[in-house]
Amino acid sequence: MTDALTDISRVGVVGCGQMGAGIAEVCARAGLDVMVAETTGEALEIGRTRLLNSLTKAAARGKISEEELKATQDRLTFTTDLGEFTDRDLVIEAVVENEQVKTEIFQVLDQVVARPDAILASNTSSIPLVKLAVATSRPDHVIGIHFFNPAPVQKLVELIPALTTSEGTISRAQALVEKVLGKHAIRAQDRSGFVVNALLVPYLLSSIRMFESGIASREDIDNGMELGCAHPMGPLKLSDLIGLDTIASIADSMYSEYKEPLYAAPPLLQRMVDAGRLGRKTGSGFYTYG
Ligand code: CAA
Repeated sequence: MTDALTDISRVGVVGCGQMGAGIAEVCARAGLDVMVAETTGEALEIGRTRLLNSLTKAAARGKISEEELKATQDRLTFTTDLGEFTDRDLVIEAVVENEQVKTEIFQVLDQVVARPDAILASNTSSIPLVKLAVATSRPDHVIGIHFFNPAPVQKLVELIPALTTSEGTISRAQALVEKVLGKHAIRAQDRSGFVVNALLVPYLLSSIRMFESGIASREDIDNGMELGCAHPMGPLKLSDLIGLDTIASIADSMYSEYKEPLYAAPPLLQRMVDAGRLGRKTGSGFYTYG
């Protein structure tokens, strides 16, 4: 089915945290053969369980049939060895927002992925794509493909070409995102935060500053935006969903790019990260979770 729409049928996903697992789920549900890599057996097991639980929930809610559930599971394989990505047509890296870690992964992928016109993509929210592109010998085939959390639910994907990315790579990535994955693609320049985070993150940081300065309680801040502006989640709940470490990293990248105070992480955010209160994923952030 996918061959008629794109030349991509084998996808690799590096990282099986909440974004990597969501991206792998989206790709496998769209009929693609997906291999997921994590660094350790333990991380892989946690990621695999996260992904399979999400698929089982989708089946329980009637979004996919039992046959589709089984077929989707069969399209997923898991590994701790990036060397197994040799035959991939597209690899999407979705690891922590750390430039050095991502750069090293791109260098490995460059060595491992055999197809010369395979696309090497990053789900980064804020790290310059050009830095990842020039870490490889194929900077024309590197692009940002940025999903939103939860990836199986949110319809948007940002496409971010680096200065080096070829038009052919952009068109192939766009065809995959729109025609195969069924998402809406928007294009942004390679500037930290792209479109959505450049708008969203200052808003989330403002809500944390408001809470820190005692202007309103966390519930009133969240209710204000949910009931006053019809947002599905208030900003503190959303921060917990995204992960406070992720928000702090994005804010730091944007601050270092633009030097604008509105991108500066407030002290409370940094203290919560230092305390390991990262939001839903650790069971505690602005709220506590069971
Ligand atoms: N996987 C698959 N489906 C999921 C899901 C998941 N993890 N979580 C929720 N869903 C589905 C449910 O199945 C349900 O579908 P139906 O209505 O068709 O049954 C639907 O989403 C709503 O789910 P719930 O009823 O359980 O919960 P909800 O109504 O409270 O919605 C939410 C949950 C989808 C997370 C919603 O609150 C929401 O959209 N919040 C805003 C999220 C947002 O802004 N994300 C962007 C973050 S920014 C980002 O990701 C970029 C970055 O770089 C930081």
